[in-house]
Amino acid sequence: MKVLVTGGAGYIGSIVTAELIAQGDHVVVFDNLSQGHRAAVHPEAAFIHADLADRAALRAAFDTHQVDAVMHFASNTLVGESMAQPFLYLGNNVTNGLNLLQETVAHNVHRFILSSTANLFDKPERMPISEKERIVPGSPYGESKYILERMLHWLDRVSGLRYAALRYFNAAGAAPGGERGEDHSPETHLIPLVLQVALNQREHVTIFGDDYETRDGTCVRDYIHVIDLAQAHILALRALDEGSRTYNLGNGQGFTVRGVIDTCREVTGHSIPAVIGPRRPGDPADLVASSDRIREELGWSPRYPSLRTIVEHAWEWHRTHPHGYGD
Ligand code: UFG
Repeated sequence: MKVLVTGGAGYIGSIVTAELIAQGDHVVVFDNLSQGHRAAVHPEAAFIHADLADRAALRAAFDTHQVDAVMHFASNTLVGESMAQPFLYLGNNVTNGLNLLQETVAHNVHRFILSSTANLFDKPERMPISEKERIVPGSPYGESKYILERMLHWLDRVSGLRYAALRYFNAAGAAPGGERGEDHSPETHLIPLVLQVALNQREHVTIFGDDYETRDGTCVRDYIHVIDLAQAHILALRALDEGSRTYNLGNGQGFTVRGVIDTCREVTGHSIPAVIGPRRPGDPADLVASSDRIREELGWSPRYPSLRTIVEHAWEWHRTHPHGYGD
């Protein structure tokens, strides 16, 4: 297939692009490089440097490349930032997504994959969290993704667009071999921040709260290897013609912040000093996915479920790219 990948220069989009190309698909990356890196884009992918707000550029991308499917990664993705800057999310994320959907439908493309989020489950009643859980977006970010999920629901009914909404829990790790990995500026994610301490780029990591009702008082998250996420996208893409679908995507295992730091200490051999700070606004105590539905329907199962392997791959990337892609 020929796939238009928005955000294909970003962390997850660039790794999915490389996996698609490895499986014989063709990829057109559409990215404004506001957060992504040109060097992250697989050399065999066509590259369009443009913004989703630019309808003419988007139209030209569809006119030039006859794509069979769209994967939409390009987005602002930080829960905390969305609480401070809601219009970046309720504005840009929604209007850019809408532009993309309008051009997708106008060009008779019938397959669409959306990066959605676990931030739809702010107050889960059951753990692990299944697709049947009540949707309570935890932030303008989560709300923006939910709005896009709802648009997809209607476009399926009205226009025959087949979609998969993939709700990621905590994407982590790097492509084995250390070629592609996480490079955000500023970095806010736990594992890269902890590994920056091991690289002596920071003096310590701050644990955001140790008074949660969890086994060691720190937040529990479900870290899923980015390669396993990538495989889920590809399985979902191949299954789309059989109908639209929504999946929660995690490992099914929760790790505390302290547990992650301990694993990073074991992998790096660095003492990694940690200090306790206040809670970060908007952080739920516990988020663990049930991925039973995608396992049953698509036969997906994580190749790298162990946190140690996830951290080893992340460490390989950060050790060999201490300044990321270096741009
Ligand atoms: N944390 C710290 N110290 C830090 C950074 C993070 O203690 O310096 C803690 C957070 O409080 C949280 C955990 O580590 O409990 C993980 O935090 P991340 O910032 O790495 O990830 P989040 O769980 O906040 O968010 C991620 C993605 C979102 C997505 C969400 C879904 O960034 O896009 O997972 O679960 F919505």
